[in-house]
Amino acid sequence: MCGIVGYIGKRQAYPVLIGGLHRLEYRGYDSAGVALLSDTDQLNVYKAKGKVSELEAVASEKDCSGTMGIAHTRWATHGGPSTKNAHPHVSESGNLTLVHNGIIENYAVLREQLQKRGMHFQSETDTEVLVQLIEYVQTSLGLSLEAAVQAALQRVIGAYAIVVLDRRTPNRLVAARKSSPMVVGIGEDGKEFFVASDASPIAEYTKQMVYLKDEEIVVCERDKELRVYTLTGENVPVEVKKVELDLTMLDKGGFPHFMLKEIFDQPSVLQDCMRGRVLPEHGRVILSAVTDHRERLIKARRFIIVSCGTSWHAGLIGKQLIEHFCKIPVEVEYASEFRYRDPVIYPDDVVMAISQSGETADTLAAIELARKAGAFVFGVVNAVGSSIARNTDTGTYIHVGPEIGVASTKAFTGQVCVLTMLALTLGEAKGTIDKKEYQAVFDELQLIPQKIERILEQNDRIAVLSKIFTYAHNFLYLGRGWNYPVALEGALKLKEISYIHAEGYPAAEMKHGPIALIDQEMPVVFIATHHQLHEKIISNMQEVKSRNGRIIAIITEGDEVVKQMVSEYIEVPDTLACLAPLLSVIPLQLLAYHVAVQKGLNVDQPRNLAKSVTVE
Ligand code: G6P
Repeated sequence: MCGIVGYIGKRQAYPVLIGGLHRLEYRGYDSAGVALLSDTDQLNVYKAKGKVSELEAVASEKDCSGTMGIAHTRWATHGGPSTKNAHPHVSESGNLTLVHNGIIENYAVLREQLQKRGMHFQSETDTEVLVQLIEYVQTSLGLSLEAAVQAALQRVIGAYAIVVLDRRTPNRLVAARKSSPMVVGIGEDGKEFFVASDASPIAEYTKQMVYLKDEEIVVCERDKELRVYTLTGENVPVEVKKVELDLTMLDKGGFPHFMLKEIFDQPSVLQDCMRGRVLPEHGRVILSAVTDHRERLIKARRFIIVSCGTSWHAGLIGKQLIEHFCKIPVEVEYASEFRYRDPVIYPDDVVMAISQSGETADTLAAIELARKAGAFVFGVVNAVGSSIARNTDTGTYIHVGPEIGVASTKAFTGQVCVLTMLALTLGEAKGTIDKKEYQAVFDELQLIPQKIERILEQNDRIAVLSKIFTYAHNFLYLGRGWNYPVALEGALKLKEISYIHAEGYPAAEMKHGPIALIDQEMPVVFIATHHQLHEKIISNMQEVKSRNGRIIAIITEGDEVVKQMVSEYIEVPDTLACLAPLLSVIPLQLLAYHVAVQKGLNVDQPRNLAKSVTVE
């Protein structure tokens, strides 16, 4: 996810900004940039694709003087990773420069309007539209920087945290936010200011922080008091908070591991994933890929999902969603098997590649095969501009931000969220989805982030529970229907990071083999939310219980029947059956995480595993 740092005061800005960008590296990024107003009032902008160290190399021979500047680490959303697309972006006249986190949903319309008025664009980003818009408003209405920011933001739909610098007013920085965090640090003498997307890059300089609220603008002016306004121009009292941060934990955003951070990211990143797609004001889901390729997708004879690892598990849920809502048959293939199996592929098939990294070699090869056979290729990818994203006919990004922990967590829920939105959109276009059911899923999907929050509140309890099970050498995970792929994913999480052998199975298949393994040593995780086949799952639990197996049950809140039966359970909020995986997977991610932590293992980089498997 993108990161912002800004500084205005008496110090040299460059070391503060570069140090801050290093502190933000934990968020993951693909390019970086800095803009400085030099001691001779020259605006110097340096950018680089890749790491902050590469930016430092670019800037090393250049003029890095100045006591005011802004800097950014970018994670591509609109336009691939490149120097051209990196921030800061500069306005047409060269007067304004801006950094931005978030997504401007109406950027295409704004861009067209500005182009008609003669403005030129250098990048493919939504951010450049913002800086041009602010300049346009400022010039045409003769406004101050802060008034222009205020007026321009009223025309913007979407999420943003921005910092703007105008080289003609070297005494101030203006920042604003909506749905994307932003904090201002007040330096020692109260006359220097640090602006950032979170407290980590500025905590070493000050503990006095002002957290901006949605739709607030802040003016940081040299030697003056901080001023905060609303978007409509009303003054807001400045509320200063004392923030003490453990600097050693800052690189992971305050969490001990990236994996835990990413598990806790899920409520907010799923909102990002739905932003501009699940539209409450229209009562509909709109995916541009489906709008643009409606006929081709509606007429699909079959979907073939190709993927690996966790993405393959998301594919199994995608199969159920697409078959249920769109009445299109779906096959789910391991990409590594598919590519070598001489599969039958028809030109009217849609081959869907699901991949977090967008670089998995087997999935890329499966796409090649599908292309040769003339199928239409649809990507569900996280990394913007990655090889898979570039090699598909169309697709939908999951937009959950960079995932750094090797064991995938937020990418899984992001993939399931996109597959749900796709099934709703396509089902509606085909007329195969019942209107009431569409409405129910549409409403409930928007509640999922807050329901995940409720599960995360049980983190400490799950940590305690995990202590009981670190002894185990084997685990069994059982689920049915929508929760069967969740059983597979729960088992994968545990084996990846705790090195405990774990198997996921459809619960009813237990009697055809795994039941022979059950004794008092064997923990069995049942994903037993109160949906289809609940009673049958309860019978399976009885079978495990009577063989002294140790059950951990994932149940719907208030399921007294199961609570009476088992000693260990984790409750998740009630939801619709088709959305159950988005909730029931969360305690399994936490359980795997805490078991691995208890065992003292390297959670983020487990042995023998890689985040991006670019070899077959
Ligand atoms: C590796 C990762 C897994 C991931 C799989 C597929 O094995 O460790 O977390 O699920 O690759 O990767 P992809 O990037 O294609 O989703």
